Amino acid sequence: MASLEVDISSIEPGSTVTVKWRGKPVFVRHRTEADIKLANSTPMNELRDPEEDSVRVQNPEWLVVVGVCTHLGCVPLPNAGDYGGWFCPCHGSHYDISGRIRKGPAPYNLEVPQYKFTEETKLLIG
Ligand code: FES
Repeated sequence: MASLEVDISSIEPGSTVTVKWRGKPVFVRHRTEADIKLANSTPMNELRDPEEDSVRVQNPEWLVVVGVCTHLGCVPLPNAGDYGGWFCPCHGSHYDISGRIRKGPAPYNLEVPQYKFTEETKLLIG
Protein backbone atom coordinates (compact mmCIF):
# COMPACT_ATOMS: atom_id res chain seq x y z
CA MET A 1 0.00 0.00 0.00
CA ALA A 2 1.16 3.50 -0.80
CA SER A 3 3.07 5.62 1.64
CA LEU A 4 2.66 9.38 1.72
CA GLU A 5 5.46 11.88 2.18
CA VAL A 6 4.48 15.09 3.93
CA ASP A 7 6.60 18.24 4.09
CA ILE A 8 5.96 19.61 7.57
CA SER A 9 8.33 22.59 7.36
CA SER A 10 5.56 25.17 6.90
CA ILE A 11 3.16 23.91 9.58
CA GLU A 12 3.17 26.58 12.28
CA PRO A 13 3.15 25.61 15.98
CA GLY A 14 -0.45 25.38 17.12
CA SER A 15 -1.84 24.44 13.75
CA THR A 16 -3.09 21.20 12.26
CA VAL A 17 -2.86 20.13 8.65
CA THR A 18 -5.04 17.39 7.20
CA VAL A 19 -3.58 15.14 4.53
CA LYS A 20 -5.19 12.24 2.74
CA TRP A 21 -3.66 8.79 3.11
CA ARG A 22 -5.22 5.58 1.83
CA GLY A 23 -8.53 7.41 1.40
CA LYS A 24 -8.58 8.63 5.00
CA PRO A 25 -7.79 12.01 6.53
CA VAL A 26 -4.69 12.13 8.70
CA PHE A 27 -4.15 15.03 11.08
CA VAL A 28 -0.62 16.35 11.52
CA ARG A 29 -0.52 18.71 14.47
CA HIS A 30 2.50 20.88 15.28
CA ARG A 31 2.12 21.03 19.03
CA THR A 32 3.13 23.99 21.16
CA GLU A 33 4.92 23.75 24.51
CA ALA A 34 1.55 24.26 26.19
CA ASP A 35 0.00 21.42 24.13
CA ILE A 36 2.81 19.07 25.16
CA LYS A 37 2.48 20.02 28.83
CA LEU A 38 -1.26 19.50 28.70
CA ALA A 39 -0.90 16.11 27.00
CA ASN A 40 1.57 14.94 29.65
CA SER A 41 -0.28 16.24 32.69
CA THR A 42 -3.38 14.10 32.19
CA PRO A 43 -3.88 11.44 34.87
CA MET A 44 -4.33 7.98 33.34
CA ASN A 45 -7.41 7.37 35.49
CA GLU A 46 -9.23 10.17 33.64
CA LEU A 47 -8.86 8.35 30.32
CA ARG A 48 -11.38 5.97 28.79
CA ASP A 49 -8.70 4.38 26.61
CA PRO A 50 -5.61 4.96 28.79
CA GLU A 51 -2.42 5.66 26.86
CA GLU A 52 0.50 7.83 27.84
CA ASP A 53 1.15 10.65 25.39
CA SER A 54 4.73 9.38 25.03
CA VAL A 55 3.59 6.15 23.37
CA ARG A 56 1.48 8.06 20.84
CA VAL A 57 4.20 10.36 19.49
CA GLN A 58 7.72 9.92 18.16
CA ASN A 59 8.56 13.57 18.65
CA PRO A 60 6.46 15.45 21.24
CA GLU A 61 6.17 18.44 18.89
CA TRP A 62 4.28 16.38 16.32
CA LEU A 63 1.06 14.44 16.74
CA VAL A 64 0.03 12.28 13.78
CA VAL A 65 -3.39 10.61 13.99
CA VAL A 66 -5.99 9.19 11.63
CA GLY A 67 -8.80 11.74 11.46
CA VAL A 68 -11.66 9.28 11.76
CA CYS A 69 -13.82 9.33 14.88
CA THR A 70 -13.78 5.93 16.58
CA HIS A 71 -17.52 6.14 17.19
CA LEU A 72 -19.06 5.99 13.70
CA GLY A 73 -16.37 7.41 11.48
CA CYS A 74 -17.03 11.14 11.08
CA VAL A 75 -14.12 13.55 10.74
CA PRO A 76 -13.51 15.49 13.97
CA LEU A 77 -12.78 19.23 13.86
CA PRO A 78 -9.40 20.56 15.04
CA ASN A 79 -8.92 23.16 17.76
CA ALA A 80 -12.32 22.32 19.17
CA GLY A 81 -13.95 20.53 22.07
CA ASP A 82 -13.41 20.75 25.81
CA TYR A 83 -9.89 19.27 25.90
CA GLY A 84 -7.87 21.40 23.50
CA GLY A 85 -7.90 18.86 20.69
CA TRP A 86 -10.70 17.75 18.39
CA PHE A 87 -14.46 17.68 18.51
CA CYS A 88 -16.62 15.31 16.49
CA PRO A 89 -19.79 17.16 15.53
CA CYS A 90 -21.74 14.02 14.60
CA HIS A 91 -22.54 12.89 18.14
CA GLY A 92 -20.31 15.02 20.35
CA SER A 93 -17.05 13.18 21.06
CA HIS A 94 -14.23 15.25 22.51
CA TYR A 95 -10.58 14.26 21.92
CA ASP A 96 -7.62 15.82 23.67
CA ILE A 97 -4.36 17.19 22.27
CA SER A 98 -2.97 13.67 22.15
CA GLY A 99 -6.03 12.48 20.16
CA ARG A 100 -7.33 10.56 23.18
CA ILE A 101 -11.06 10.21 23.72
CA ARG A 102 -12.21 12.22 26.75
CA LYS A 103 -15.97 12.66 26.48
CA GLY A 104 -18.84 11.53 24.26
CA PRO A 105 -19.73 8.18 22.71
CA ALA A 106 -16.47 7.26 20.96
CA PRO A 107 -14.84 4.21 22.62
CA TYR A 108 -11.21 4.60 21.57
CA ASN A 109 -8.47 7.15 20.97
CA LEU A 110 -7.82 8.39 17.43
CA GLU A 111 -5.60 5.83 15.74
CA VAL A 112 -1.90 6.55 15.32
CA PRO A 113 -0.85 5.37 11.84
CA GLN A 114 2.55 3.95 11.03
CA TYR A 115 4.91 6.80 10.19
CA LYS A 116 8.50 7.93 10.46
CA PHE A 117 10.55 11.06 10.08
CA THR A 118 12.77 10.73 7.02
CA GLU A 119 14.31 14.16 7.59
CA GLU A 120 13.73 16.76 10.27
CA THR A 121 10.94 18.30 8.18
CA LYS A 122 9.69 15.29 6.29
CA LEU A 123 7.25 12.68 7.43
CA LEU A 124 6.53 9.38 5.74
CA ILE A 125 3.09 8.02 6.60
CA GLY A 126 2.54 4.32 5.95
FE1 FES B 1 -17.97 10.93 16.07
FE2 FES B 1 -20.29 9.71 16.50
S1 FES B 1 -19.06 9.62 14.74
S2 FES B 1 -19.23 11.08 17.80
